[in-house]
Amino acid sequence: MSTVESPFLKGVFAPWRKEEKLDQLEVIGKIPADLQGVLLRNGPNPQFDPVGAYHWFDGDGMLHAIRIKNGRASYDNRWVRTERFKLEQAAGKPLQDIDHTTANTNIIEYQNRLLALNEGEVPTEIQLSNLDTRGSFTFDGQITRALTAHPRVDHRRQEFLTYSYTNPDGRLMYYRLDRNQRVIAEQEIRWPYSSMMHDFVNTEHYVIFPIFPCTLSFERARRGEPIFMWEGDRLNTYFIVTDQAGNEVVRVETDPCHVYHFGNAYEQGDCILIDALVSKIEPLMPNRHGKVPSEAESAAYLARWTIDLKKRSIQLEFLDKTIGEFPRFDERFNGYAYRHLYMAGQSAPGTLFDRIVHYDLKNNRIVVHQFGQDIPTEPVFVPRSEQEGDGYLLVVVYRSAEDRSDVVILDAKHVDEAPLAVIKIPHRIPFGFHGNFVQ
Ligand SMILES: [Fe+2]
Repeated sequence: MSTVESPFLKGVFAPWRKEEKLDQLEVIGKIPADLQGVLLRNGPNPQFDPVGAYHWFDGDGMLHAIRIKNGRASYDNRWVRTERFKLEQAAGKPLQDIDHTTANTNIIEYQNRLLALNEGEVPTEIQLSNLDTRGSFTFDGQITRALTAHPRVDHRRQEFLTYSYTNPDGRLMYYRLDRNQRVIAEQEIRWPYSSMMHDFVNTEHYVIFPIFPCTLSFERARRGEPIFMWEGDRLNTYFIVTDQAGNEVVRVETDPCHVYHFGNAYEQGDCILIDALVSKIEPLMPNRHGKVPSEAESAAYLARWTIDLKKRSIQLEFLDKTIGEFPRFDERFNGYAYRHLYMAGQSAPGTLFDRIVHYDLKNNRIVVHQFGQDIPTEPVFVPRSEQEGDGYLLVVVYRSAEDRSDVVILDAKHVDEAPLAVIKIPHRIPFGFHGNFVQ
């Protein structure tokens, strides 16, 4: 059995195969006294060296918890026990042609439960105290379909918005749940074609479904061809704007492009403003000739769409020339006017992330924290007061020279300044996708 060569199995991406608990981590500086909770990270971490082709998205989900209490920090990590994980563990080797579950994309808190998410699967419930896997989570049987790894929350209404698009029937389904975990809206969205919809946005009164020409085809997959394919040579981008119940209000069409992750969206007069990391071409999937674009062709930059609901028009404006990804903001303001956005950025195409960027969108101010040869991940914002942007950024940073990771705590109002504290992990936390802080 031969193992595969993949850049996603080396360096910062190399799997970490030990599950452990570490008390009393070394801390440089002082963890703020009001920062109490658990930073959770999720990402692909194959249990065994893969056989056949390996795509970054395919690795088994591993959860990392950095637990912070009274200025001290501890660490523990576990793989999510998906069906695939358990079958392969029992076999003692990687298996092919089995149900492909990973739960590797995000880890969120939903009504005092932890959910590990992957857009191709039903959510998996995790126990916070020890990262044990509890099993599938279906909102008391209300939603049994695979759900996005990027649900949204309207914090003012305490409503939870999510969608499903990867079931083999190809339907795009929208769901809204109230504060009592009851489904209050369930609606099929009529999309022009099936495509990769990794993230979506909402505003106070609207929900916006983006359709980018990275098509999804189960038929193709059955023929052994790519399930996702870039078809920007023949298809445009669409935004479907619905009301809160999911009834279509406006549909606009614009040039082909791609977004993995959105920042915030909000209403201004007759317009909806949508911030995102936008690339001209989807970066990771092949076109019809089997070609994956170069990093220069497919780099993402912060941009803002303005959808005019009255004129039924859409315009795109790029806001910066820094290549970036993994945008986050003070998510208490999700769907409402906001000012501060944070992301991981890099100096040039083909390099890895080397900085955290803070955009003050009100004052057109950009503040950067440089990590040099070290590699930061998605910055997670933790609030310290009611005021937007007043809080901390928690960033897992890979120390390249030491093959080890730190958790760096930055003051979100002074991102360029020296960290408030650095929590030292004795080993690598492989570059993952997403995480959140649970208080
Ligand atoms: Fe994502």
